[in-house]
Amino acid sequence: MPDEHVHPAAYPAPATHPAPADHRNPADHPAPADHRLPADHPAPAEHRFPDAQREAVYRVIAERRDVRQGFLPDPVPADVLRRMLAAAHQAPSVGFSQPWDFIVITDRARREQIAALARRHRDEFAAGLPGARARAFDRLKIESILDTPVNIVVTCDRTRGGRHTLGRHVQPQTADFSSVLAVANLWLAARAEGLGVGWVSFFDERELAAHLGLPAHLEVIAYLCLGYVTGFASEPELATAGWARRRPVSWAVHAEEFGHRGLPGEEPVDPLADVIAAIAPPDAAAMTAAAERQDRMTKPRGSLGVLEEVSVRLAGLAGACPAPLPEPACVAVFAADHGVHAQGVTPWPQEVTAQMVANFLAGGAVVNAFAAQAGAEVTVVDIGVAASLEPVPGLLPRKIAPGTADFTQGPAMTREQATAALTVGLEIARDLVAAGNRCLVTGDMGIANTTASAALICAFTGADPAEATGRGTGIDAATYARKVDVVCRGLALHHPDPADPVGVLAAFGGFEHAALAGFILGAAALRVPVILDGVISGAAALAAAALAPDVTAACFAGHRSVEPGHAIALSHLGLTPLVDLGLRLGEGTGALLALPLIQSAARALRDVATFDSAGVTEKQ
Ligand SMILES: Cc1cc2nc3c(=O)[nH]c(=O)nc-3n(C[C@H](O)[C@H](O)[C@H](O)COP(=O)(O)O)c2cc1C
Repeated sequence: MPDEHVHPAAYPAPATHPAPADHRNPADHPAPADHRLPADHPAPAEHRFPDAQREAVYRVIAERRDVRQGFLPDPVPADVLRRMLAAAHQAPSVGFSQPWDFIVITDRARREQIAALARRHRDEFAAGLPGARARAFDRLKIESILDTPVNIVVTCDRTRGGRHTLGRHVQPQTADFSSVLAVANLWLAARAEGLGVGWVSFFDERELAAHLGLPAHLEVIAYLCLGYVTGFASEPELATAGWARRRPVSWAVHAEEFGHRGLPGEEPVDPLADVIAAIAPPDAAAMTAAAERQDRMTKPRGSLGVLEEVSVRLAGLAGACPAPLPEPACVAVFAADHGVHAQGVTPWPQEVTAQMVANFLAGGAVVNAFAAQAGAEVTVVDIGVAASLEPVPGLLPRKIAPGTADFTQGPAMTREQATAALTVGLEIARDLVAAGNRCLVTGDMGIANTTASAALICAFTGADPAEATGRGTGIDAATYARKVDVVCRGLALHHPDPADPVGVLAAFGGFEHAALAGFILGAAALRVPVILDGVISGAAALAAAALAPDVTAACFAGHRSVEPGHAIALSHLGLTPLVDLGLRLGEGTGALLALPLIQSAARALRDVATFDSAGVTEKQ
């Protein structure tokens, strides 16, 4: 195996360090008082396995697969099973508690009962999935309980060894971790034996435990299906099926503290700089191919109007003609509060931000209705809501601070906070794409955020506050005059420099604008389309474009909001809105209405026959 899997150079040996452990009994060889290595001591790497054996270790790790397809009915010999179980039994365990037991199931009738349990939970899960996700899930095989000759259940006894088990006292969950490590050992040993293993977790744990006659103090950790297979895939099936993709290892490794990403021995990763560097212009060849294909499709030239342009832009972004369908889609609603609320720029109290977040999470808002109609998932991000929010599924807790400061008094946030929010946004874009989404949609919630948006739009475009400021949720003349004055005062205080986008974001906020800018940049770097909602997204996109001008290749303007600043932002970005229905709600609603239009444009380019392929005569 190549040496990049080991990073000895990245962790230089300290000048003095204890002798590497040898295989002798330490009692016979008391440690010397001086821990320095003797001159004739072997090099620290001396204990490593010979190359071929090391390669085998890394190979089994790389080629271990969760297998669901292609099982053979051949029985698994008892001696092979015993070797794998012995490997599992050698796993590390907290305080050496060895909390696992293994239940080996081969009886067909029992497996049929268990398969029925899994099927019920599979159907329940499927019923809750949005559109494209549900279709993709339908195509996935998630269990092979009956296709495999042997099933093994790995359990955990969290009480084994009594109350003084080392380590478990502080962290009871370490008992479960230990059983999971036994699973990992078994899974690796199985691969070395040429056996496929599939892990099934579509069970109510207690229901399954009852079927297996488990005593109440034992938990089910894993249900594994084992058998010989026709072959092992080189990639996880969920990756080849487009369900999810692997995160690069450099995203997962941090030096010393969370956030300092980078692999040992390599330059630290600056996610924002990396994302900006990865954003490139659209692929001209793919765009030409798409435009030519549009002209050969069985329809009059140009008859799909703006949608033809959309399909050409999607091809340019993907670097392929036709572009992949932009589905599944996910809307991320970034929620935050604003210090400028104190200036009386809106009649809505600040707590409405948190209340609406609760509404999004309960599925009761317009964004939920439109997302359900369009088959998109809704994710809500607390990037700076003033209130503390309870953790619930669907909420990403990423609060930078409980609201920004009032930008008429000083900067809304620090540069560090602006960069942190940008980074959160781009990481969320990456995670949503890694989770299998092929279209991202921007959403926002933040009482007073049209005021911050107006200030940002003026700062980036040079627009007059009287022209860029709108009536937001609906305000009277006096409030409107105050709002324009607030924007003017902010601009006069901060003298924003559009060439310093982080400084502009820091001056006026909010956290949702900065995070949305990062989200848009993240999508563009992965060459995934991002549908922009209204004025808040427009202001954020201006910041993104100031950081990386080519970002607009990934941006599709979902709609034009009633807010006057939005049209200014879109024309500055050179984007044409797809829908113009007089909306001024935010949340991602306008962008979601455009989702089926963009998907239809992509599908037409992919599916519609050409004159030559369909044998249709062209116009003379
Ligand atoms: C805790 C856990 C539970 C899992 N449950 C299921 C499951 O219910 N159904 C399934 O098809 N795969 C399940 N898997 C397998 C994962 O989908 C699989 O490990 C992942 O796609 C990565 O692929 P790979 O194991 O081939 O690298 C599970 C894996 C783990 C670690």
